[in-house]
Amino acid sequence: MAKQHIKLTVNGKAHEALVEPRLLLIHFLREELGLTGAHIGCETSHCGACTVDLDGRSVKSCTVFAVQADGAEILTVEGMATADGLHPIQAAFIEAHGLQCGFCTPGMIMRSHRLLQENPDPTETEIRLGLSGNLCRCTGYQNIVKAVRDAANTLNATSSTASEAAE
Ligand code: FES
Ligand code: FES
Repeated sequence: MAKQHIKLTVNGKAHEALVEPRLLLIHFLREELGLTGAHIGCETSHCGACTVDLDGRSVKSCTVFAVQADGAEILTVEGMATADGLHPIQAAFIEAHGLQCGFCTPGMIMRSHRLLQENPDPTETEIRLGLSGNLCRCTGYQNIVKAVRDAANTLNATSSTASEAAE
């Protein structure tokens, strides 16, 4: 089938490509852009290891065709850290031992990021519900939930300090 031209922004950088209509977004990210942070665990929309942010929504990138992302803004785990260091969610996963093998971690971090954007002060139940589409085979989830809660505290403290400084 004829390739289609797509334009999209990934981690703040504009990209254009010719892609086959059947190419999945996860394969486009990993194989065409070399962004291998999003992992492929199942390709059947169960594990969540491939989760990225697409126009402000969490998507499992094995369920999206690259052509469907035409015109979109995408954030992957590679776009989370800044020149100042790791994103507070990434730091909290390390501090709270929210990972073991790390295979689920990029998806967990991207899903947690969206969850905290939508609900900056989630309860444990809300965190568990919010992450229910992401599977982890190692940690038993306890430390992942703790990491997200710790990250919420850090982010909320940072934003209240910033708003006090602006007053
Ligand atoms: S690889 Fe996409 S949900 Fe498992
Ligand atoms: S840390 Fe191994 S799958 Fe989650």
